[in-house]
Amino acid sequence: MPEAVSYRIQDGIAVATVENPPVNALSATVRAGLLAAAERAAQDPEAAGLVLAGAGSAFIAGADISEFGKPPVPPALAEVVAALEACPKPVVAAIQGVALGGGLEVALGCDARILGPKAQLGLPEVKLGLLPGAGGTQRTPRLIGPAAALPMIASGDKVPAAKAVEMGLADAVAEGDLLRAAFARVRELAGKPLPARLNTRTDRLTAPGAREAFEAAAQALAKRAADEPQIAAIIEAVRNSFDMPLEQGLKRERELFVMLRDDPRSKALRHVFFAERQAAHIPGLPKETRPRAVNQAVVLGAGTMGTGIAMSFANAGIPVRIIETDAAGLERGRKRIADTYATSVKRGSLTPEARDARLALIEGAVGLEAAAGADLVVEAVFEELELKKEIFGKLDSIAPGAVLASNTSYLDINAMAAATSRPQDVLGMHFFSPANVMKLLEVVRAEKTSPEALATAVAVGRKLAKVPVVVGVCHGFVGNRMLSRRTQQAERLLQEGATPGQVDKALTEFGFRMGPFAMADLAGLDIGWRVRKATGATAPVADALCEAGRIGQKAGRGYYAYPEGARAGQPDPEVQTLIEGVSRKLGITRRDISQEEITERLIYPMINEGARILEEGIAARPGDIDVVWLYGYNWPAWRGGPMHHADAVGLPRIAERLAAYADQTGDESLRPAALLRQLAAEGAGFGSLKPRGGNTTKAA
Ligand code: 3HC
Ligand code: NAI
Repeated sequence: MPEAVSYRIQDGIAVATVENPPVNALSATVRAGLLAAAERAAQDPEAAGLVLAGAGSAFIAGADISEFGKPPVPPALAEVVAALEACPKPVVAAIQGVALGGGLEVALGCDARILGPKAQLGLPEVKLGLLPGAGGTQRTPRLIGPAAALPMIASGDKVPAAKAVEMGLADAVAEGDLLRAAFARVRELAGKPLPARLNTRTDRLTAPGAREAFEAAAQALAKRAADEPQIAAIIEAVRNSFDMPLEQGLKRERELFVMLRDDPRSKALRHVFFAERQAAHIPGLPKETRPRAVNQAVVLGAGTMGTGIAMSFANAGIPVRIIETDAAGLERGRKRIADTYATSVKRGSLTPEARDARLALIEGAVGLEAAAGADLVVEAVFEELELKKEIFGKLDSIAPGAVLASNTSYLDINAMAAATSRPQDVLGMHFFSPANVMKLLEVVRAEKTSPEALATAVAVGRKLAKVPVVVGVCHGFVGNRMLSRRTQQAERLLQEGATPGQVDKALTEFGFRMGPFAMADLAGLDIGWRVRKATGATAPVADALCEAGRIGQKAGRGYYAYPEGARAGQPDPEVQTLIEGVSRKLGITRRDISQEEITERLIYPMINEGARILEEGIAARPGDIDVVWLYGYNWPAWRGGPMHHADAVGLPRIAERLAAYADQTGDESLRPAALLRQLAAEGAGFGSLKPRGGNTTKAA
């Protein structure tokens, strides 16, 4: 096995190269290797100085996040940075790729940072609910000034090479060979007194106006600081750079880091980081599977979803043809796309040139025959199985060789596949509305879907900047199947005594941006009503609202009233009367329901359904379910997703509450699932489950 950090002398200069694939994270062996290199170069008579480099595409991606929560192994990263900073010879970082978090903190211990054109510098700890814990909050302000350091640390955004030099975060972008440029800098610095290192510099802190500029930047973060503990900690730590000597500032930074690291919110965010990446590891996909190239996409249906999906392709630079049944339908779709892009241009998030380039990639056509020549077809016509089967049957020969995907919300992909002569090419690509915005893509693997077709859908999803999650066939797949449990309970809570406002408040206080009823009003109640009528299902309160014409915001009234186009709904006494009428009719004696019960009745049945989904192998991992909820339904990231939340609460409690609610309401769907009961009895969590479906292969 190669050393995690190699050491060599080249042209009279020591070069320490970090090699810890895939991203050169600062695992214990890397920390030890860097410390040894700093000490060795200091003593090495052949070395005029030291250059730090990264092998592969990353310089150093930061601390090894998988080590958090395990007992610390020395040396600490702070010790490594201090050793670099104490080296009596010049030390230069040659940064060819990402230098993130601890990776940038290592570079801040050097005398200079020379960048390759693809270098990106950043302190993304904030996104994991943390703050930089190895000097980033103390040395960055000393390098670029506290007023610039604060927003950089609080956003966690990567700074590209040229911008980094402009900000003073790095010294230069190398023209030509990076290592040579780093050597040149070492030689410039060698043999004379070294410039002041960051541990002794205070000029940026004492500059006129520095404190005022910092406080203004802190003020701009006040709202976030109230909601996110890491933002408050970052402000405090950076402010300390004014008020404390470096040593003391570092000590306090460490305390804050440990506090945040042990907070359940950071644990949840770290879970999200790995769950999102794990979702790319697909069970049962042979290693040699290669996705097919998709150079021409076709979308069927220019409705709500078809237009959003088409824009996703165009936004990723993939030519796309939208097919409708007639010119009027096409025109409606064309207008929807033009309006969406116009809004982005107006908001300044898209230039007119980029809009034109995207529009040029979208063409329209009438009639299925226009699907000829497609590499991938995404069907987004009405939610009717017979129609979809007929379309798949025709696509079979119209678009030979194409991967055939349905965007259906609930319907049976196996049935669509069976309507073709090549079921191996058929699968689901379930986008979420608005499809050009939402990041989730459920890739539905049907019984006969080939590995190649699956890999193609996943690869395309990633190109579209989506987070693809592979799921199995069932009614509603993962997301909508779990959502329907929540919807059911929300309706029942109204019947039993809650108000729409109480139900929505329970979920917004849990962390969702919107409750189920505000959401229903926004989406329109008529869609669900139509589905219920078609399937013979009922939801007495929702049905009564629809019968009264209260179909949501578009009608100015739904679960709430929206006087004169107001966007925020107001409680409406008419709704209360209507709900009470439903309770009477059902013979239910209304009662006061606590917020705790409301929250548990909304969230725990979803977890229960998640357990059934795992039992059936519809999702391979609990983390996949979490990713679905995070990116498809705006589950609050700091709660890590429903299955992570279940583990955080403890499965025994969830099983016990579900059983109690089943007894109390007589609703047997609330009875805890076998897997939930089993794990609760074992004292285990969902996180302990092994992925289902065989060995995994990371999607290309
Ligand atoms: N620790 C452990 N594993 C990491 C990691 C890290 N910091 N960063 C990435 N990985 C792993 C991923 O889990 C993934 O594993 P897999 O192959 O098993 O799926 C693999 O590396 C590749 O990662 P990506 O799929 O994300 O690869 P990309 O090329 O898309 O992106 C990246 C690379 C930009 C480096 C991205 O992975 C990233 O942003 N990483 C996190 C960076 C970060 O948050 N650093 C700060 C850490 S906290 C810290 O440094 C604390 C310090 O202040 C004390
Ligand atoms: P929509 O009613 O807005 O659009 C459907 C479009 O398909 C219409 O414009 C219609 O003219 C067209 N169409 C019908 N038959 C056609 C044919 N034979 N060839 C070409 N075009 C045809 O419906 P929406 O909301 O876009 O839904 C489409 C599909 O996406 C459905 O299966 C739905 O379940 C699914 N879906 C919907 C989501 C949503 O939030 N609306 C979310 C995810 C999936």
